[in-house]
Amino acid sequence: MAELSGKTVVVTGASRGIGRATALSLAQEGAQVIVHYGRHAREADQVVAEIRSLGSRAEKISADLSAPDGPHRLAKRAKEIIGGRLDILVANAGIFVPASIEDLTIEEFDRLFAVNVRAPLFLVQQLRSIMCTDSNVIFISSLAARSPIGGHAAYAATKGALETIVKYLASAFGPHDIRVNAVAPGIVETEMSSFVRTHEGRERTLAMQSMKRVGRPEDVARVVTFLASNEARWITGEVVQADGGSRL
Ligand SMILES: NC(=O)c1ccc[n+]([C@@H]2O[C@H](COP(=O)([O-])OP(=O)(O)OC[C@H]3O[C@@H](n4cnc5c(N)ncnc54)[C@H](OP(=O)(O)O)[C@@H]3O)[C@@H](O)[C@H]2O)c1
Repeated sequence: MAELSGKTVVVTGASRGIGRATALSLAQEGAQVIVHYGRHAREADQVVAEIRSLGSRAEKISADLSAPDGPHRLAKRAKEIIGGRLDILVANAGIFVPASIEDLTIEEFDRLFAVNVRAPLFLVQQLRSIMCTDSNVIFISSLAARSPIGGHAAYAATKGALETIVKYLASAFGPHDIRVNAVAPGIVETEMSSFVRTHEGRERTLAMQSMKRVGRPEDVARVVTFLASNEARWITGEVVQADGGSRL
């Protein structure tokens, strides 16, 4: 589908879940991938090894994106590895806090916004200098941004903020032929949504979807890969819903 031979890619949160599947999907199309991770070094090593076995280049970088200087440190190291040209940035790393409005703490709110909003925005700022004509940025939003699920207002608000950032960056970068989009998954079976592994969680998930199976990381990864490719060259400023027809 997408010819990404020789393209340089940074995927944040690529040690697990949707980020891992995305890193592998982009590598299958020939991209060289920086596998960013937080705490799971062994999992990141496995992703790097899998990408190399596909014949693509890969390196891992650790950076805590809840720290104010996390994006800056990640960008600095990425530039040392890939040099002067970044073709694709997938800002995927994110956290979820299952707190209702009654339970939410200030610390949880700040951490959610630090990882899910501040980090991707400053990562784009720090990598902008090595984005060139035809580079593109893809954020990972969520169905939660447009449809209340479980009452987790703060998490949903981080994704709403990301979708606003998409519009602003797409507008600012368009004249430089740099595209900015987001993919908004529904429930996807990863550690973040491990409740779908219970009978009740699975039933609740299927009840709100048109398509009657639980989403897999690869379902989202292929949409990201399409958006990252030249096939999507006329799409910018968009949020693509990839949710099996959730809450239709
Ligand atoms: N799963 C879903 O149902 C779902 C639905 C809609 C949207 N999303 C979004 O999709 C994205 C990926 O979610 P997922 O389900 O794949 O999550 P996941 O399985 O929990 O993986 C999260 C990834 O983000 C990294 N990460 C988290 N906090 C970090 C930090 N402080 N510093 C650096 N890295 C950090 C983790 O790295 P380490 O493990 O190495 O620490 C891991 O690679 C998120 O933005 C999430 O909001 C998920």
